[in-house]
Amino acid sequence: MRVTMIGTGYVGLVSGACFADFGHTVTCVDKDEGKIARLQKGEIPIFEPGLGALVRDNVEQGRLSFTTDPSAAIRDADAVFIAVGTPSRRGDGHADLTYVYNAAEEIASLMNGYTVVVTKSTVPVGTGDEVEAIIKKKRPDAEFAVVSNPEFLREGAAISDFKRPDRVVVGADDERAREVMRDLYRPLFLNETPIIFTERRTSELIKYAANGFLAMKITFINEIADLCEAVGANVQEVARGIGLDNRIGKKFLNAGPGYGGSCFPKDTLALMKTARDHKAPIELIETTVRVNTARKQKMAQKIIDALGGNVSGKTIAVLGLTFKPNTDDMRDAPALDIVPALQDEGAKVRAFDPEGMEEAKHMLKDVAFASGPYDCVQDADAVVFITEWDQFRALDLDRMKKALKTPVVIDLRNIYRPTEMAAKGFRYVSVGRP
Ligand code: UDX
Repeated sequence: MRVTMIGTGYVGLVSGACFADFGHTVTCVDKDEGKIARLQKGEIPIFEPGLGALVRDNVEQGRLSFTTDPSAAIRDADAVFIAVGTPSRRGDGHADLTYVYNAAEEIASLMNGYTVVVTKSTVPVGTGDEVEAIIKKKRPDAEFAVVSNPEFLREGAAISDFKRPDRVVVGADDERAREVMRDLYRPLFLNETPIIFTERRTSELIKYAANGFLAMKITFINEIADLCEAVGANVQEVARGIGLDNRIGKKFLNAGPGYGGSCFPKDTLALMKTARDHKAPIELIETTVRVNTARKQKMAQKIIDALGGNVSGKTIAVLGLTFKPNTDDMRDAPALDIVPALQDEGAKVRAFDPEGMEEAKHMLKDVAFASGPYDCVQDADAVVFITEWDQFRALDLDRMKKALKTPVVIDLRNIYRPTEMAAKGFRYVSVGRP
């Protein structure tokens, strides 16, 4: 089929490349000329494992192309996906739908013949109705359907999440649109991936409910971790003990410094706003947001406590800045709260991250960036692990101890084991473990 993807961010680029890899003909449209020019040369503007090869391969085989001109792309498409950003609006946390509505206007003016318009971006419940109204107003004559098809892609695992999803969710009322969506996802259909067809608003809410629940699950284990520290229990063992109950499931039970990223923070805020606006507040999500926000400050205090309550004039080495490993994304990363909190207490911070330092340079001030983990810890008073990059998992601990001024390690991702670190002579503080 002929697919047009509007927006070439994390979602649009991965979805477009994967649809092309399914055998469809995909045109990705973006207003950013520079970005499109780089993509046409096979340069990928984001760090997503495997995406470069996937894009180049499909461009070579003529199934994937990039353009700034939407006209031909939209006119000839069987399905046009809206995969533009829906950032949190400054101030009130509502999703900013400007780009979504602009895309709807553009589609309305250019579409030709029956077209399925698909909202792939995470959009508040009811947005599909708005998009439909915009298009209908501009083109009362046109034959089209507006469908919701939320993505559940995790950054760093986006391609496998697209190609081997737990489910595909499609919010479509009319049968013709459902048929088009079946054709689009046929390769998945063939290997029994469940495709759920439901109403549009239900589909939109499924996305928020999923992210809200996952954010709540992480926040739950983070609070259990604090209780573990108070009673001398081990949160990793608690997580294992409850996770083996398949009503709970073992994923997303890793205690840490709190969730970040471009989705959970934004989607939990939008969900709680939507719920409030419709007089059905979700207090569990409101509490999740509050607890998660406070946690990042608590992590800074944990580090200060580990250094005897005073970090003034001390050098603290930070390993990991991105909100999670295998991404360069710094949006709402815990480091963006933790580092300034340490600096406010007079600490000097030196940091290293395999992929995030380019972004971090614009978001953190007065931070010295190191060339690698050992360079980062050289002569530091303590080292803090904020992101669990694989390359931090087997550091030469003797070398690290020699490089540190004092052997203090604060491990916010439980990368190492307390017994192993004690045996090496470190003062070792981690999350939810004795
Ligand atoms: C999330 C959802 O997983 C995905 O389905 C949705 O489409 C987009 O949002 P993403 O934000 O890329 O994906 O990352 P994810 O792996 O979910 O992690 C989100 C945050 O939770 C990260 O800050 C991560 O460090 C944290 N996290 C995750 C934990 O602290 N503990 C865990 O066990 C899992």
